[in-house]
Amino acid sequence: MKLFSGVSNKPLAEEISRYLDITLSPVEIFLFPDGERRVRLEESVLDEDVVILQSTSTPVDHNYMELFFLIDSAKRSGAKTITVVMPYFGYQRQDHVFRTGEAVSLDVVIKIFESLGVNKVISFDLHTIKIPELFHIPLIHLSALPLFAYVIEKAHWTKQDTVLVSPDMGGLRRIDEMAKLLDGMGHVATVKNRNLETGTIEMETISGDISMIKKRAVIVDDMISSGKTIVRSAELMKEYGAEEIYVFATHAVFSEEAPFILQKSPITKLFVTDSVFIPAEKHFEKLEIISLASDIAKTLKATSD
Ligand code: R5P
Repeated sequence: MKLFSGVSNKPLAEEISRYLDITLSPVEIFLFPDGERRVRLEESVLDEDVVILQSTSTPVDHNYMELFFLIDSAKRSGAKTITVVMPYFGYQRQDHVFRTGEAVSLDVVIKIFESLGVNKVISFDLHTIKIPELFHIPLIHLSALPLFAYVIEKAHWTKQDTVLVSPDMGGLRRIDEMAKLLDGMGHVATVKNRNLETGTIEMETISGDISMIKKRAVIVDDMISSGKTIVRSAELMKEYGAEEIYVFATHAVFSEEAPFILQKSPITKLFVTDSVFIPAEKHFEKLEIISLASDIAKTLKATSD
């Protein structure tokens, strides 16, 4: 197996290579003054199982183009199989037409992967469970929820003192899964309405049995972008009497202002994974990062041909 990485999340690729006990194979990426790039695999991949890691987070289009070129290099150089590890899958939220006239960005990405000859994709905590069905190649859908449940168990939080919270109704399936991992811990949801034209969020009510709310609230989400959903959900839980608010979110797709609003929010501590590389300037005191490297390495070993 040969593992290559784009520029988006090299620290995670290096960590995976350590678990696999292989060296990360070198890639030459040359950036032309006009922004175009030339990509070259610096090792032979003839008849090899090639794995390419790229998180298609910001700058999303740039990272996608680089990934497409890496796949093309592997295909043209005679790779036996090509596995794309995309811990964070950009454009997955646009998985259907929300308003007449919109493009289905996810469908475009899938068509490109399939036409480039990708054999398999590995990703984490996709926005909806129907996404794998949109692919005609295998998509291995992993989750960070067991890693999060492990943190909660280690902290000895129980259903007597803790309630799980979905920050919106779309996250109910996720919160159900988390509850199953935690001995049927109780859960509620905060009800969110986002204005698609202005991006503003309204969140005033709770869905579920409010007597379930305990002194500790654990909010679970798939991603944090502006941070507004999580912060408003945390504020609402505080208004309903929770004293400590913990957040677990797989993908830290932090916007510029997200670290500031999260740090000054009522959140006690926030756990995210390294599915998206978080530069030092976006780290903040309340943040803790859990690595997906071991899970990815185990899956690559278990699914290699
Ligand atoms: C929405 O459905 C997702 O699960 C997240 O809650 C959302 O993408 C978070 O976005 P933001 O941090 O910008 O509120």
